[in-house]
Amino acid sequence: MQWLAKAPSNIALIKYMGKQNSDHNIAANPSLSYTLNHLQSTVTLEHSHEQRDKWLPLCEQNNQLTLSPAAEKRFLQHLHWLKQQFNFSGSFIVRSANNFPLGCGLASSAASFAALTKCTALALTDLTAKPYPSILQQATWSRQGSGSSCRSFFDGFVLWDNDNIQTIDTPYTNLIHKAIVISQEEKLVSSTDAHLRVCSSPHYAMRAQRANLRLQALLQVLQNQDWAKAYRICWEEFHDMHNLFTTAAQPFHYITAETQHVLTLLEKLWEIEQDGPIVTMDAGPNIHLLYRCSQQALADHFQQKYLDGRYHVI
Ligand code: PMV
Repeated sequence: MQWLAKAPSNIALIKYMGKQNSDHNIAANPSLSYTLNHLQSTVTLEHSHEQRDKWLPLCEQNNQLTLSPAAEKRFLQHLHWLKQQFNFSGSFIVRSANNFPLGCGLASSAASFAALTKCTALALTDLTAKPYPSILQQATWSRQGSGSSCRSFFDGFVLWDNDNIQTIDTPYTNLIHKAIVISQEEKLVSSTDAHLRVCSSPHYAMRAQRANLRLQALLQVLQNQDWAKAYRICWEEFHDMHNLFTTAAQPFHYITAETQHVLTLLEKLWEIEQDGPIVTMDAGPNIHLLYRCSQQALADHFQQKYLDGRYHVI
């Protein structure tokens, strides 16, 4: 028997960084993301008679996924934990793939853990005859494997605040997402490690307070359709997270000269046009842009003038 599920990635505008409780992935602060429906992971599960679960790449669209031994272990541990929720002791062959190119630094764990959780819920509902879990239940389970993955169960702007995970309605729908790939290198510091390391930064003590204030301000300006203010809040917010990285006791950094060059181009675009995309960065050197759907011409113009031929844009 075989089961299949797909889940999208998401990009945080107010970042989840730091945990209150590592055992249950309770975030130190609420986060707000936008779901990226064009960046998807697919997971299949095949019931197996082996003693142990096994991971294999799913050969799809010529993008063969490779997982480091540590990433594979984390993925299979989450499958094991999900099976415990259903008191299921059988084994699976789990296969996974992303629909976006490999090694582009966007292989967010959010999409893959959400797809694994969805697929396991389908398989174990069939195999144990237990009731199919609600989407909120699945999102809460997924959070155990990767905190940010819980937001991938919902569409549009998604708020994750402790046990509450929900779509937030705003006047902005169908945003255009572009990721500028500055570097394809694998992250040096895993997100699990980053959540721990940031706690040693002198700026960490007030971090939750800053994130909360920005969240409230961002929700308000999105409702008021004040796009320029939303851009400024998101700009401060990703710099805040990257500042925690560089001021940790074991510092690490992702903003390269190349990243800075593109960030400066984006600042200039805003200065000239008095308009532009919301700009954010995840824990990596790549830059995410969110444009309103009415800004398609501006998005095309910026890409043709400054990005095409220089950077891979997804
Ligand atoms: O879900 P994790 O544990 O991989 O952490 C992700 C943290 C960030 O991507 C850096 C921020 C976020 O809120 O997605």
